[in-house]
Amino acid sequence: MLLAFDDEWALAQRLADALGWPLQAVQRHTFPDGETRLRLPPQLPPRVAVLRGLQQPNAKLTELWLAAAGARELGAAQLALVSPYLAYMRQDIAFTPGEVVSQRHLGRLLATGFDCVITVDPHLHRVATMDEVVPGRRGVALSAAPLLGAWLARQVPGALLVAPDEEAEQWVAAAARAQGLDYLVSRKQRHGDRDVRVDVPAADVQGRAVVLLDDVASTGHTLLDAAATLLARGAASVDVAVTHGLFVGDAIDRLRAAGVRHCWSTDSVPHASNCVSVAPLLAAALADWARDPATTG
Ligand code: R5P
Repeated sequence: MLLAFDDEWALAQRLADALGWPLQAVQRHTFPDGETRLRLPPQLPPRVAVLRGLQQPNAKLTELWLAAAGARELGAAQLALVSPYLAYMRQDIAFTPGEVVSQRHLGRLLATGFDCVITVDPHLHRVATMDEVVPGRRGVALSAAPLLGAWLARQVPGALLVAPDEEAEQWVAAAARAQGLDYLVSRKQRHGDRDVRVDVPAADVQGRAVVLLDDVASTGHTLLDAAATLLARGAASVDVAVTHGLFVGDAIDRLRAAGVRHCWSTDSVPHASNCVSVAPLLAAALADWARDPATTG
């Protein structure tokens, strides 16, 4: 059985349909004092997956922890979390003394509640695998880069793909190679939440249709800075494609105002820019887990 929350119902239905699994809602009530009451189906089968993307994560984490504990009590012997966007992955070391390494502690928390955690394009940098993020459990990191690459190749034939930073090279290279496209890798310096400098390599982009490809757009400033450089150097068009379109605040408006033509994302995070579904990827990983749920990482 797949359990899902109302605000992710569209992806939940696509996922349940792809698997042929029953889909049930986690019902929520918020009390006047801000506490939450959850209601799950009273009798759960032995294998249950919970779909919960962790964009805007803080309130969701309490609900998720309660849902996991409740599902165990109601019969879920094996419990998987499908979190298409997994938050807190970027804080993977203490960048300054005293900083809490959120990735490590979120991973340990999820490992107490779930036997398996499946996600898409997590921001793994200094920690290499999802198995390390959820110690003793099965961790699965899928990539939407091939799906986005196929979409881009159809929308912008002959596109030049550009990674806005070195961490994005893995996704851009995978998409470019699969589609026979050229790609460039930029370097990035972040000085603050909205203060980013992207150094695009000095290649000839004059007249090229460029697509910036990254794992996540949050404020959009990484893409904005790169797009401004590319357009100033004579790119014929700049489109952006990301796995996780958080696009907080006025990010989309700013990108459009800067001359970005299209903003595309997968449905890992529900957003108007969604153009590619990760449901088939997630379904294949969940089907693997359901066949052999006892395997841990
Ligand atoms: C970080 O390295 C990620 O890959 C993204 O480039 C970054 O999180 C985007 O953030 P923003 O949209 O706020 O610049």
